[in-house]
This record gives sequence, C-alpha cells and structure tokens, in this order.
Amino acid sequence: MIRKAVLPVAGLGTRFLPASKAIPKEMLTLVDKPVIQHVVEEAIAAGITEIILVTHGAKKAIEDHFDVNYELENELEQRGKIALLNVLRSILPAGIRVVSVRQGRALGLGHAILCAREVVGNEPFAVLLPDVLVDNFNQPQTDLACMNQRFDKTGLTQILVDAVLKERVDQYGIVALKEGTDLAAGESKPIKAMIEKPALDKAPSNLAIVGRYVLPPRIFELLAATKPGAGNEIQLTDALDALLQEAGAEAYRVQGETYDCGNKLGYLHATLVHGLRHPEVGDGFRALINQLPET
Ligand code: G1P
Repeated sequence: MIRKAVLPVAGLGTRFLPASKAIPKEMLTLVDKPVIQHVVEEAIAAGITEIILVTHGAKKAIEDHFDVNYELENELEQRGKIALLNVLRSILPAGIRVVSVRQGRALGLGHAILCAREVVGNEPFAVLLPDVLVDNFNQPQTDLACMNQRFDKTGLTQILVDAVLKERVDQYGIVALKEGTDLAAGESKPIKAMIEKPALDKAPSNLAIVGRYVLPPRIFELLAATKPGAGNEIQLTDALDALLQEAGAEAYRVQGETYDCGNKLGYLHATLVHGLRHPEVGDGFRALINQLPET
C-alpha cells in the first residue's frame, strides 16, 4: 500500500515569468483551481494519505493553500456563504496530511527527492512532478492508482511513460524497453535503459517519462551516492538507472491524457480542457470559443 507522495515544488518557475515572480507557478490556476491542487487530488484519488511538499522559502503560498484560513472561513460562515465554505474545506479531505520540507538550494530533482528521505522513511512512495497533469476524467481508475497496485503486486519500480512526438524526445527522459517498442495503455513492461533528454538520433523510442514514479525506499541510498550529472545537478534519472541495474523497473503507459503545464502551450491546453468541462462556466466558454472571429 503506497501511503506517501513526494511533490517537488521548490523550482523557480522561470518559464512562467513574469507571472511566477511573486506567485509560485504551481499556484497558477486552471479556471479557479491551482495546478498544485489538481496534482494533490490525483494523489488522494490513488489512496495517498500523506503529501510531502519539497519546497522553498519563496513559495509559502503553496503551504498556505493547504492550511486552514480561519479568518476567511469564519467570515464566509458569518455571511452564510456555505457553498464557498465547503469549497475551502474540501481542499484537504479529512485524514489527509500535508507535510513540507525545504530544499534550500536548487541542486536538482534527485536532490529534491532526497530532501524528503526522513519524512518518507523506510517505505515505498510515489513521486508526482507538479508540472505534469495526468487527466483520468471519467475513467474508473486513475493511472497512479494502477501504478500503485502494480507495485504492490510485483515490488517493481513503476515509471509513467507516454508517447511523445519525435521532435520532443530531447525534452524528456526516454525509456528503452527490454523487448520491442510496443506498450499498450495501462500496461507495464520491463525497462532496459533510460536516457535523459537524448538527441533524436540517440533516442531508443518515443516513450517519455512524464512525471509519475512509484519507488522503493532503496532509491534514497542510491540518490545519496549519486554524483552531480547533467547541468551539475543530482539527477533522479541517474539513481533510477542504478536501481534498474540492481532490481529492475517497469514502464507503465498512461491511459489518460497528460498536459505539460511546465510550458505555456501545455498550460493553455489544460486550461482549455478544464474550462470547457467546468460546471459553472463550461457552456459559456464553449459559446465564446465558437464566436471567435477567424484570423
Ligand atoms: C524531469 C525528468 C525527466 C522527465 C521530466 C518529465 O525533467 O528528469 O526524465 O521526462 O521531468 O516532466 P525536467 O522537466 O525537470 O527537466
């Protein structure tokens, strides 16, 4: 049973400046809900009960978002705005805990995860990179829930992958499967190798790692022994490679849609989808889109 999830949120978000100057990029909204809340909801839907934020002093708004705002709640109660009050109270359902640890220096994704070592302890855990949204709308089970179940059954590391356009392989970690290149949605297969951001002619497939991992606690020892790699940062992919050699790992192919909210177009795409689906403004938004003049 995977109970804990690590969400690295210490990054500066330079790709979203000036929006991310005073507001964490994870607090940018899809209509009216911050991106980070979507990711936390995804973790909770997969059975996670402890969310571990690896954060930075400049990003307090994220911790505040998951804390109780007593004054605001009190005010809404006094004014009888019960629906809004319930919206606030449902941000974090009963039984879910949010813990935060600081990553004072930006020494890489691997380093960020290592910062959560004491809080995770000696148990398997999930990692969710909040730049990526995994959308399992109307599906019976989320992809993260399926990955957790597969880990419970096999004890093997699960790494979420999605097929990306060939031109984009140099923006992701790319996996080579032990056998062939076919992987159906919802299926897990053994990985032969992982290459971080390869050039197109060096990419063994177009199956890209898209920000969800289910890992054994052994990864912490491997991360602690990992030397700085690409960009002089401690790379998660390097420690995963060591884990792969030692114990094996599987690529799990996503069934839902993924949106890369770490880039502007991906963020706009996610906004579009969530806007059209929104119970309050969805119909109006669709009408607005239909009325747009052709340019
Ligand atoms: C990280 C990982 C990479 C993965 C990507 C997914 O890279 O190192 O393997 O494909 O996240 O979003 P980053 O985007 O932090 O450079």
